[in-house]
Amino acid sequence: MNNNETIQHLIAQMSLVEKIGQLQQTSYFSDVITGSELDTSETLQLIRDGKIGSILSVHDVKILRELQRLAVEESRLGIPLFFAFDVIHGYRTAFPINLALACSFDPLLIEQVATASAFEASHSGMHLTFSPMVDIVRDPRWGRVMESNGEDPFLSSVLAAAYVKGYQGKNLHDDGTLAACVKHFAGYGFSEAGRDYNTVDISNRQLFTTILPPFRAAIDAGVAMVMTGFNVLFDRPATANDYLLQDVLRQQLQFQGVIISDYSSTEELMEHKVASTIKEVAYQCFSAGIDHEMGATSFQTSLASLVQEGEIALSDIDAAVHRLLTLKQKLGLFADPYRRFYHHHERFLLTEETKQVALDAAQKSIILLKNSGILPCRSDKRFAVVGPFATSQDLIGEWPGLAKKEEVISLADAFLASGITVDVFPTLDDVQLASLDQYDLVVVTLGENGNEAGEGYSKVDLSIKKEQLNMFDYCVSNSNHVLAVVFAGRPLIITDIDKKAQAILYAFQPGTQAGLALVNLITGVTSPSAKCAMTFPSHQGQIPLYYNHFKTGRPIKLDDPMYRYRTHYIDHSNEPLYPFGYGLHYGVTVLSSMSLSRQEITPSTSVVVRVQIENQSGVTITEVVQCYIEALTYSVARPVNELKSFQRVNLLGQQNQTIEFELHVEDFKSYNIDMIWTAENRDYLIKVGTSSKTVLTEKIHIKD
Ligand code: BGC
Repeated sequence: MNNNETIQHLIAQMSLVEKIGQLQQTSYFSDVITGSELDTSETLQLIRDGKIGSILSVHDVKILRELQRLAVEESRLGIPLFFAFDVIHGYRTAFPINLALACSFDPLLIEQVATASAFEASHSGMHLTFSPMVDIVRDPRWGRVMESNGEDPFLSSVLAAAYVKGYQGKNLHDDGTLAACVKHFAGYGFSEAGRDYNTVDISNRQLFTTILPPFRAAIDAGVAMVMTGFNVLFDRPATANDYLLQDVLRQQLQFQGVIISDYSSTEELMEHKVASTIKEVAYQCFSAGIDHEMGATSFQTSLASLVQEGEIALSDIDAAVHRLLTLKQKLGLFADPYRRFYHHHERFLLTEETKQVALDAAQKSIILLKNSGILPCRSDKRFAVVGPFATSQDLIGEWPGLAKKEEVISLADAFLASGITVDVFPTLDDVQLASLDQYDLVVVTLGENGNEAGEGYSKVDLSIKKEQLNMFDYCVSNSNHVLAVVFAGRPLIITDIDKKAQAILYAFQPGTQAGLALVNLITGVTSPSAKCAMTFPSHQGQIPLYYNHFKTGRPIKLDDPMYRYRTHYIDHSNEPLYPFGYGLHYGVTVLSSMSLSRQEITPSTSVVVRVQIENQSGVTITEVVQCYIEALTYSVARPVNELKSFQRVNLLGQQNQTIEFELHVEDFKSYNIDMIWTAENRDYLIKVGTSSKTVLTEKIHIKD
């Protein structure tokens, strides 16, 4: 029998209750929403009865093994469970938070991070991770921006595919892989006013042009699972939204894998007031397309009677079960349900290799936002480290997996470990006792604690806390060698810091190797290379602020006497503090000599964009060169700038290089008024730069 026949054969032997069991995921220990302890013996009995398909968030390997044994040896048909966990930016080794990783603009790095995460988790019994999170985000008040790839659909698409490739490897059957689950479908990142779980009200065009591309990329890369969002979109909760799950996900995006609800998002239909009973919940969610229910039990309690009453077709239940069993088969669970359990599995955790990836990832994720010449600072100079994060190990951020804060290398410890003399002043009182002018570099640490961004951590105030600002102000008044290092889960408003500090490194939450990465960057062992994956507003009132906004009929023109009637604020500029794609390194790069291989392209041709890049400094650096397009006119509104390609370019001191981007007609397309994906025969600009504020431009005609 081939795999499909084996699964069909198994389904033919299953009772309705056993079938519905495959559609149920449970958390085993406790309900994470209410914190109430569940009776675990009840769960054990449910497994024996074949009423559970998978388990989430259990990481004790002994317990996992026992749960698998119950399913395989004590349930009637012996169907194995799969074990799921939020391996978001690492399992035991903490890599930088995902927003920081996105700032690397480095899909190969993301793939390595995902491979390393999958290696650790899969050797600890896990089968599936609820990652990547690809919600496009524009509002840093939303705590979950830290898990995202930022604001750009193209960057997020490239990285989504890299995550899936890294987690899933070539074959889910292979050692060291995890099935991936892309989330949250769809629109959750547009929660109004940045309040978590809030409603979302956007156009279908926005859905297709901005939100879906990274989901499409993950699906094209073979992602095993899609998770729905908590939010309402187009008048219905995403978890019970036929249009989203059937028309868009199944038909247009051709997704054939498992659709899972988010934690208790099924039962929340009752809070949304679109269902009044659990039975209605089960009916609406299953009919819309949910295959696997997480953190709620509406399927377990109600699907059987819905089938018996003819409300739900048995063939639809069978189809969902088929998708679940296919995933289990792909994971190799039928061949050997115990193969992810190893003796002394700890030896696979926090290895030298994963730590090296974490160090590399942190170095490539920390953005140099300002440098008036004080960096790099040679390691034989005198250093002071000031502020609450000087000795802090709270540098992992939310979704830490099993990473331990005590294993994080703090900034102060990293200086010492690198053999560099450093004086540490955690508080203002401490620093006031020192004479700061004796130091060649005063590193002032600022920002958010690990639990100020993440799920459920929305904020209205994104400014630096008062006591931190006092300390910073004291330092800049007493030294003109101040480097601000900001730790945060989101872009904070750091306009004042930018005015007064001589240099800024935006570290986000860099993970296990945080301190070492920073010391290497500060002392010039390696040059920073990260770029902003999210725009940094210069004022909180500008939010949402993002680079790829639509044009207006009254764009700002500062010299227009009728300025008042143009798109602007009366009390602040429109400009961000740092635009999308911006970030410095220790060299000086100049782009020049842009040329196009042709002035017009058709579907059978492509254009090669050539640009010269020169590193005018003597330092070895990496620059991220970015290629954008702009439709000069189009039948519907389009963004002022759209990222289409980027390259990380390594340059030795004084090195010159020609780099090339190849663009096809596909890269110029958008949805027209009839939602047809088309380029229209028009003129477009191709723009190249080292941020979204591009410096070189050429015109091209597209003939579709
Ligand atoms: C989150 C998901 C996560 C799930 C399981 C939910 O609260 O929204 O992103 O995967 O919990 O932990």
